[in-house]
Amino acid sequence: MSQTVIAIDGPAASGKGTVSKAISEKLQFNYLDTGKLYRAIGAQYLEGRPPIDAAQSLNISDLNKYDLQKPEIAQAASEIALIPEVRAALLEFQRNFSKKMPGAVLDGRDIGTIVCPNAKIKIFLTASLKARAKRRYVELYKHDGKISFETILEQIKERDKRDQTRSSSPMVAASDAKIFDTSALSIKEAVDKVFDYIQTKI
Ligand code: C5P
Repeated sequence: MSQTVIAIDGPAASGKGTVSKAISEKLQFNYLDTGKLYRAIGAQYLEGRPPIDAAQSLNISDLNKYDLQKPEIAQAASEIALIPEVRAALLEFQRNFSKKMPGAVLDGRDIGTIVCPNAKIKIFLTASLKARAKRRYVELYKHDGKISFETILEQIKERDKRDQTRSSSPMVAASDAKIFDTSALSIKEAVDKVFDYIQTKI
């Protein structure tokens, strides 16, 4: 089998991380959650490091140095992701990863459009704002019982807006991406649907 790239894009809490990981395991492909790269730079930015500098010297070990799920790191990631030089510095890392054998699944916001425009399979996962905020709330509530649903909803709304309206690599479905709405789907249903589609393309 020739090397295959699967690009999975979509907004926060659309299910793309869970689906991408499951697909990579089923196919025994390498998996990169590109949001982690932006989060690792966001974490360093919160510590006072200039984000372009952090992006230019990003090391894979940086991804394990922080609790990248923290909401404040997600917000910082969304802010530094607006900087064209930060995005440019991360391109090579992501493209090199996409060449790994026997194949690679990358998830993010601009994989199908900018990072791997020639990916064999492109998927865009989406879900309603309310469904996504609910998922994130359930996830974060386990770590912080004081967190409010309204705050999470507002944070996701803000991140969506920044991702969709930035001039450098805005989040948009590639014209040749297959779009799935996961609002009413369980994790298993979403994984099965996406996997069935991938099998028709491989
Ligand atoms: O996917 P995740 O929520 O972990 O991503 C964190 C932030 O990083 C997003 O809000 C988005 O602004 C940015 N990001 C991006 N391009 C990607 C992946 C993430 O701009 N390919």
